[in-house]
Amino acid sequence: MLKGRHLIDIMDFSIEELDEIFKLANEIISKEKDFSKVCDGKLLATLFYEPSTRTRLSFESAMIRLGGKVVGFSEPNSSSVSKGESIADTIRVIGCYADIIAMRHPKEGAPKIASMYSTVPVINAGDGGHQHPTQTLTDLLTIKSIKGTLSNLKIGCCGDLKFGRTVHSLINAMSRYENNSFTLISPEELKVPDYVKKELNRKGVNYSETKNLEDAIGSLDILYMTRVQKERFFNEEDYIRLKDIYILSKDKMSKAGKDMIVLHPLPRVNEIPYEIDSDPRACYFKQVKYGMYVRMALMLKLLGIR
Ligand code: CP
Repeated sequence: MLKGRHLIDIMDFSIEELDEIFKLANEIISKEKDFSKVCDGKLLATLFYEPSTRTRLSFESAMIRLGGKVVGFSEPNSSSVSKGESIADTIRVIGCYADIIAMRHPKEGAPKIASMYSTVPVINAGDGGHQHPTQTLTDLLTIKSIKGTLSNLKIGCCGDLKFGRTVHSLINAMSRYENNSFTLISPEELKVPDYVKKELNRKGVNYSETKNLEDAIGSLDILYMTRVQKERFFNEEDYIRLKDIYILSKDKMSKAGKDMIVLHPLPRVNEIPYEIDSDPRACYFKQVKYGMYVRMALMLKLLGIR
């Protein structure tokens, strides 16, 4: 039963609950018109303390396409946060107005704190370098739709695996399905945090770490590219040194299998050149579309509408 629940970490939901969300997302995709009024009278609040294009606008589009309405802020300085209001108080207030809240915050754990004070469902829309569970819902629905399965896959994660919160959520989620393995491709400075690897070890999941994308690409079913997260670096020199460390050139793509798919949570910077976009294996814009549908399904479930 997902009604009234929060989504803070992708592990908050069981595999069966994730499946329910994907089933509903597919139903919405096939009969979108039938859902155009189901959220009539419902209000989503989007509280974005950090910049966003996809997550905020896909949540807002999702609610509007379901017949509901949206309030919120994307610039925290325009809210009373700038006067020193706490997250707890902000959430208690927003809960008096809205039926559901999507919150992005630069501090790890902030949406969790919010959920502890909220009378309505809180969805973590990204907390610092920690987790991004609705991106993972997007990624899983994309993989399931294109590959037909969430099991028996060789997944390569490439780029900034230290600060890239989407990768942390994706690894946690995909390691629950049978016989998936991971190739973690990053420079030494941007390796996956130990707490993520500890979980893989605990579950006995097969993974390896390498710096070399070129050598790894040929064995992958999925290549999940990520941007080097400039905003989380402590000094600019390190960022400049590392920012273009992986560029998915045509030459590298020629070493990949014909059925490998390339995903990216976006925004991209230089890591995937525009010339790759026309390659049929480039699926990151399809992924964007799935993101809106899966957020429609998620909100319906948390609101107890379907
Ligand atoms: N994928 C993602 O979280 O994009 P935004 O930062 O634009 O929301």
